[in-house]
Amino acid sequence: MIAVANQKGGVGKTTTSVNIAAALSMHGQRVLVVDLDPQGNASTALATEHRGDVPDVYQVLVDDLPMADIVKQVPDMPNLYCAPATIDLAGAEIELVSLVAREARLRRALAAYDAVELDYIVIDCPPSLGLLTVNALVAADEVMIPIQCEYYALEGLGQLLRNVDLIRAHLNPTLKLSTIVLTMYDGRTRLASQVADEVRAHFGDTVLNTVIPRSVRLSEAPSYGQSVMTYDPGSSGAMAYMDAAREIAHRATVS
Ligand SMILES: Nc1ncnc2c1ncn2[C@@H]1O[C@H](COP(=O)(O)OP(=O)(O)OP(=O)(O)O)[C@@H](O)[C@H]1O
Ligand SMILES: [Mg+2]
Repeated sequence: MIAVANQKGGVGKTTTSVNIAAALSMHGQRVLVVDLDPQGNASTALATEHRGDVPDVYQVLVDDLPMADIVKQVPDMPNLYCAPATIDLAGAEIELVSLVAREARLRRALAAYDAVELDYIVIDCPPSLGLLTVNALVAADEVMIPIQCEYYALEGLGQLLRNVDLIRAHLNPTLKLSTIVLTMYDGRTRLASQVADEVRAHFGDTVLNTVIPRSVRLSEAPSYGQSVMTYDPGSSGAMAYMDAAREIAHRATVS
C-alpha cells in the first residue's frame, strides 16, 4: 500500500499514481487507486465517474460506507480499480476533525475491504498535509514522494519528512519512505540535472534510477480518460513509467 504524497502542488503525484498503477496492472498485478484529492484528477484520468452523487471516498471516510460500494473497475483495464473522489471530499478535511479515530478512517476502510484480491493499493494524496494526507500515511506501508526537477523542488520537503516521522512515531510505526521519483525532468537544462544530483546525494537508493522526462503525452492522456500506457505506449513518458513500475515491483520482491 503506497501513499503518493507531496504537499507541493503540481509535482506529478497524480500522473505518477495513475501511470505506475496502470503499468503494474498491465503486468497482471491487481491494483486499486484511491483518489484522496477533492480535485478528482486521478478519477478523471482513470475514466471513473466522480460527479454528481456518485458514492465516493468522502462517504467512506465520513459516513462509513464500505469501500466495496465505491470501487469501480477502470474501463478497458481489467486489473485496475479506482475509488473515486468527488468535490464532496473537500469538506472531509474539516468534518473529519470531530470524528472518532479521525486519522485512521482510511486504514479501517481498507482493512475491511476484500472484494478483490489486490497486489497494490496506490493512494493519490492532495497537495496539503491535512487530515486527508494523514489518513493516507496512516493507512499505507510506504510513502512515495514525486519531486519535480525544478528550483523550488526541495522547499517544503523537510516539513513532509517531519510529518512522516511524526506519523511513524505515533500512528503507523512501520511506515517507510520507500521511493522518491524525479518527475518532469528536462535534460536540456542544467538546473534539472543539478536538482536530480542534489536529491540523489541526499536520499541515495530511495530515489528510483528511472527519471520521468517532461512529455506532452503525459499531460494529454488524462483528457482522454486514459493513462499514457494506453494513450501512447511508445512515448518517452509511458516507457519511463513502465521502467519505474518495474523498479518498484522488483524492490517489492527483494525487500
Ligand atoms: N512528466 C511530465 N511531463 C509533462 N507534463 C507533466 C508531467 N507530469 C505531470 N505533468 C502535468 O503537470 C501537471 C501537474 O501534474 P499532476 O497533476 O500529476 O501533479 P499533482 O502533484 O498531482 O498536482 P496536485 O498537487 O494539483 O494534485 C498536470 O497538468 C500534468 O498533466
Ligand atoms: Mg494530483
